[in-house]
Amino acid sequence: MHCDYTVTAPEVSPSLTILRTAADLRAATQPFRDDGKLVGLVPTMGALHEGHLELVKRARRDCGLVIASLFVNPTQFGEGEDFDAYPRNEAEDIALFDAHGVDFVYAPDAAEMYPDGFGITVTVSGITEGLCGAARPGHFDGVTTVVSRLFEHCAPDVAYFGEKDYQQFKVVQRMVEELGMNIRIVGIPTVRERDGLALSSRNAYLDPGQRRAAPALYGTMFALAGRLHDGVDIAAQCAWGRQALLDAGFDSVDYFEICDADTLVPAIANADNLRIFAAARLGATRLIDNMPVDRPE
Ligand code: PAF
Repeated sequence: MHCDYTVTAPEVSPSLTILRTAADLRAATQPFRDDGKLVGLVPTMGALHEGHLELVKRARRDCGLVIASLFVNPTQFGEGEDFDAYPRNEAEDIALFDAHGVDFVYAPDAAEMYPDGFGITVTVSGITEGLCGAARPGHFDGVTTVVSRLFEHCAPDVAYFGEKDYQQFKVVQRMVEELGMNIRIVGIPTVRERDGLALSSRNAYLDPGQRRAAPALYGTMFALAGRLHDGVDIAAQCAWGRQALLDAGFDSVDYFEICDADTLVPAIANADNLRIFAAARLGATRLIDNMPVDRPE
């Protein structure tokens, strides 16, 4: 989906309630559960953009009660990553949630999410090993630990994740399946700027020159999708993609791979159900993106 920059008119805006503790959230949402309302959760770290709002809109369409969470999760940031610099503007985020019909915002502090002595880490193996899992050791443990905590606190029937973080979406889906959590995980297609750049809270870090180079991530994946055919040398195509990104001005490439869209295992030959995945850096800013091979976005 490409973004048209129009300001989204507020939909029906119920009076939004902000809750800081799991106990308050449980008490506030119980009457809606007793009424049989389907509960949808949109987990976020704030710094909202149109991509997040697409998740909210879909949750609003599907569910009788919509909870959005706002928590910049320290455990999914590695040493030297941008946890401290991560953009935070709670008032603006809450106004956007309100304008898009969110019923409850759950904005816990770190002590609520990770109380003293909290000793559980949720690890999903296999599907977390490649791509961002290889480039950011420990990242997905942080994600699955906080998401399982959010699921425990918010008790949703459905939770919505953006496909821009496709590996995260599949990892959470796997966690839910393997732990037998009764939650439907819905992936929502990436929202893009007109030039193809996937919306991301980290795009705000790009200087004008970097911003001009950034759409090459999308453009290179799109071009690669058109180069795939039976008998193609996948490794050579990925090497071509990596070089194309460097030629376009990226400073380094963490990965440029074609994988099975369900298992995320790297492809060795052209096949059905493949997806292209890329992560590359412009200065200190790391951008990621992905797209299906058979129906490039
Ligand atoms: O995608 C994100 O914003 C985060 O990884 C999530 C799912 C909210 C967990 O902190």
